[in-house]
Amino acid sequence: MRLKDKTALITGGGTGIGAATARLFAEEGAAVGITGRREAPLNEVAGEIKAAGGRALAVTGDVAITADCQRMVEETEAAFGQIGVLVNNAGTSTLTRADEISDELWDETIGTNLSGAFRLIRAVLPGMISQGSGSIVNVSSVLGQTGMKGAAAYGASKAGLDQLTRVLAVEYADRGIRVNSVAPAWVHTPMNKSVRDHASMYDRLKKRHPMGRFGTPDEIARAILHLASDEAAWTTGAVLTVDGGWTAV
Ligand SMILES: NC(=O)c1ccc[n+]([C@@H]2O[C@H](COP(=O)([O-])OP(=O)(O)OC[C@H]3O[C@@H](n4cnc5c(N)ncnc54)[C@H](OP(=O)(O)O)[C@@H]3O)[C@@H](O)[C@H]2O)c1
Repeated sequence: MRLKDKTALITGGGTGIGAATARLFAEEGAAVGITGRREAPLNEVAGEIKAAGGRALAVTGDVAITADCQRMVEETEAAFGQIGVLVNNAGTSTLTRADEISDELWDETIGTNLSGAFRLIRAVLPGMISQGSGSIVNVSSVLGQTGMKGAAAYGASKAGLDQLTRVLAVEYADRGIRVNSVAPAWVHTPMNKSVRDHASMYDRLKKRHPMGRFGTPDEIARAILHLASDEAAWTTGAVLTVDGGWTAV
C-alpha cells in the first residue's frame, strides 16, 4: 500500500479525475477528504469508498473562498489527522476567444484553477511544515504549455499553476515538502462532455494526440498517485505530462 496511514485532501473529488484519484488513494491505504461545491457527487464517491472498506469524508466548499479552503483542511484533519497529501484538482474550463472573455469569466477561471489551488496550499502548509513532510500535486494541463484557440484564460491559469509548482518546490524543499504537477491532455470526464458530443470536434481532438484517443481518469490518477507517494521521494518541481503524446508533437 503506497499511501498507508496517510491523510489526503483531494479537491474536486466528486467527479472525473478527482473521483478516480480518491478511489485509488483509498485502495492504497489513504484516508481521503474529498471536496467540491455539490454535495451529491461527493457523498456518492465517499459512500462507495466506505462500502469498500476505505475511509472517506465529503466536505462541501468552494476553492474560490478562503474560509471554505481553511474549513476543508480543518474538517479533514479533525476526521483523519494531519494532511500529508494535497491534490489540487478542482478546476473549471472555458474555450472562449480572448476578445469575448468577460471580466467575470476571466476571474472565475483564474480564481478557481490558480488562486483556488494557492488558497489550499497556504491552508495545508502550516501542518506540513510542523510535521516536516508533505506532498502536493497540482493538476494542470497541456494547455498551460501549448497554445490552443480559445484557451487564453484556461491556459494562463494552468501555466500559472505549473510555475507555482516550481516556486513552491524550491521554497519548501528544505522543509520536506514536495510540490509537483500532473499535466493531462484530453481526458474522458464531465468537463469536456460538450466537446465529445460534437462528433467532428471530438474526432479532430482525438487525432491531435499521437496515441489517437483521449485518456481515462484512472490513467491520470495513477500519475498523481506516483507523485503523491514516497515512490517519488526525490521528485519535486516536476511537471509530468500524461498526454498520449500531445506535447511531443
Ligand atoms: N478532462 C480533461 O480533458 C482535462 C485535461 C487537462 C486537465 N484537466 C484538469 O483536471 C482537473 C479535474 O477536471 P475533470 O476533467 O475531472 O473535470 P470535472 O469532472 O468537471 O471535475 C472538476 C471538479 O472540480 C470541482 N470544482 C470546480 N469548481 C470548483 C470550485 N470553485 N470549488 C470547488 N470545487 C470546484 C467540481 O465540483 P463542483 O462542480 O461540485 O464544485 C468537479 O468535481 C481540472 O483541474 C481540469 O482543469 C482536465
